[in-house]
Amino acid sequence: MSSTVITGASSGIGHSLARRIAASGAPVALLARRGELLERLADEIRAAGGRALALPCDVTDRRAVGVAIEAAEAALGPVARLVANAGGGRATGVDPFDVDLITEVVTLNFLGTVHCIEAVLPGMLERRAGHLVAVSSLAASRGLPGASAYSASKAALTNFMESLRIDLRGRGVDVTVIAPGFVRTKPGKTNKRRRPLRVDLEPATERMWRVIQARRPYDAFPAGLVALTWLGRVLPASWYDRLLAGRGPTPKS
Ligand SMILES: NC(=O)c1ccc[n+]([C@@H]2O[C@H](COP(=O)([O-])OP(=O)(O)OC[C@H]3O[C@@H](n4cnc5c(N)ncnc54)[C@H](OP(=O)(O)O)[C@@H]3O)[C@@H](O)[C@H]2O)c1
Repeated sequence: MSSTVITGASSGIGHSLARRIAASGAPVALLARRGELLERLADEIRAAGGRALALPCDVTDRRAVGVAIEAAEAALGPVARLVANAGGGRATGVDPFDVDLITEVVTLNFLGTVHCIEAVLPGMLERRAGHLVAVSSLAASRGLPGASAYSASKAALTNFMESLRIDLRGRGVDVTVIAPGFVRTKPGKTNKRRRPLRVDLEPATERMWRVIQARRPYDAFPAGLVALTWLGRVLPASWYDRLLAGRGPTPKS
């Protein structure tokens, strides 16, 4: 059976999706930086009768990604599916205007996925079969306060994947972009920031897995936040600014 590479598998959405994919019978290569968490998940999957390999790797390191994916192919066979989920971001503001932090967020959320695609795409094109999945965000839809780097990086990711989807038409490789709103990845943890219409991890995982299996080109959820986002897109800039002013996270100085 052909394998799945999933990044950001040490916690949150990636961890949950990796378990779901492994439960379907597909061998999974688990990538993230925290190796001990990956080993724990791989052990759990193997104990349940699945196949899994923990490959500690920083996706911002292009060479390391190539090495990890080579190791995945050697152990589990050709990569049929990439789920590029590793990502995240800290608040970014204007004072300080922290270019190092902006570079870090953009490199992780955008180039991290590009590095993974570089490692799997030639084989997929040769076999004329494959599936590239990227976990973007509803934050890609328009600039959000306190999240300039995050929303820009996710917009770059979404548009990049969309271009690839068109460029790959007729080549046997499908592309899926999933744009969640807020997903509760740490149940029980209280957070002072408002996260409207937050979805629990379990239903979010099930939805994402259905979208991946159906190879849908794009999915965004939950519907309520998708509708608000759509409204945000068509609002004139002056209204949008007034509505969102002061609603973002505060960058740490
Ligand atoms: N939760 C939400 O509300 C939400 C909403 C929209 C979109 N998303 C997107 O969903 C994805 C998963 O987020 P999450 O909420 O599950 O966050 P999370 O629990 O913080 O998980 C992030 C994952 O990415 C990995 N990662 C971070 N930097 C990495 C690096 N340099 N190299 C390799 N792996 C790295 C982390 O593992 P290590 O630290 O071990 O490297 C971790 O496994 C992200 O792309 C995020 O932007 C989340």
